[in-house]
Amino acid sequence: MRTSPVILALLSFFPGASLLGQTATEDSVGLKDYYQEYFNMGVSVSPQSLSGSERNLILEHFNSLTAENVMKMGPIHPHEDRYSWEGADAIVDFAQTNHLKVRGHTLCWHQQTPKWMFVDANGDTVSKDVLLNRLEEHITAVVTRYKGRVYAWDVVNEAVADGDGPMLRSSPWFKICGKEFIVKAFEYAHKADPQAKLFYNDYNATQPGKCERIYNLVKELKDNNVPIHGIGLQGHWSITIPTENELRDALDKYALLGLELQITELDITIYPKESGRRAKRSDENDTFTPELEEKQVNQYSKIFEILRDHRDHITGVTFWNVSDRHSWLDNFPVRGRKNYPLLFDQQLNPKKAYWEVVKF
Ligand code: GLA
Repeated sequence: MRTSPVILALLSFFPGASLLGQTATEDSVGLKDYYQEYFNMGVSVSPQSLSGSERNLILEHFNSLTAENVMKMGPIHPHEDRYSWEGADAIVDFAQTNHLKVRGHTLCWHQQTPKWMFVDANGDTVSKDVLLNRLEEHITAVVTRYKGRVYAWDVVNEAVADGDGPMLRSSPWFKICGKEFIVKAFEYAHKADPQAKLFYNDYNATQPGKCERIYNLVKELKDNNVPIHGIGLQGHWSITIPTENELRDALDKYALLGLELQITELDITIYPKESGRRAKRSDENDTFTPELEEKQVNQYSKIFEILRDHRDHITGVTFWNVSDRHSWLDNFPVRGRKNYPLLFDQQLNPKKAYWEVVKF
């Protein structure tokens, strides 16, 4: 039976109150509880964050973890003959001990790849056969190690290009293997763990042009019986993007494919989009003003209303970082400019946006 969000909200305001005979401390009420009938609530973490000050917040609010970096190719497979499992093991062990799910991220991407991946001992670009063998070896080792403990994998990340040119990004993967690397990555992952849910994951996935291209790519994979089970919309959004129509239209379109949908990297920047990286200007104001907070509250509220409307297709929502104490957006695209993109503030308290997200 579902506990009403109103009761859950009351319980979290009155910590002494009890739910089904348990104290609220034993049965602390968090995002995952409000959304228990909707979708998993996840968060990206570093191994350090699991023993640091954010630990309790993670356990209270989330039931799924994603490794922010340590499962990516570069960190986990720094040399061809050596893996570095410590960080990923720590996250998976923590999840198992605390009964959390794990989304694996990511098996094939054009960034954070190890230096050795695309070249031979002489520094020359490897052949397609060599690269596909390396990809198979990598995916088989990583997926096998966490078989049964990682329930879903972002198999291929960001293979679709932005803009109006060719459909696929001109990455080293594509330049050396053509589009076959995508098919192969899914096949290798499926062979290593036939139970794992396999996702294609990308950003700007609600932008109409890119949505069309992602849809076409995934449809082609599906039509060719490639083992793909879901689409990850990263969800690095802003207080103005996506619009309500963009988000609804994208979710409706992807839903036509009959696959699971997940928001895999949610945060809502308070700044307008900028192209290119730069340092923060000395006179630049990065205060979280009440006006900006109001806009962020409205955007979070609208987005979650739309996500709830699509509960039949959405199986998970994962935030990218835990609280405003630390976000990758503090340094991207503007180095040193503080951002406030998450639901918890720098003191780890729920923000106004949090209370809007759980009010339904
Ligand atoms: C992409 C990747 C993530 C992360 C973010 C920025 O979205 O998928 O793993 O690196 O960029 O932090």
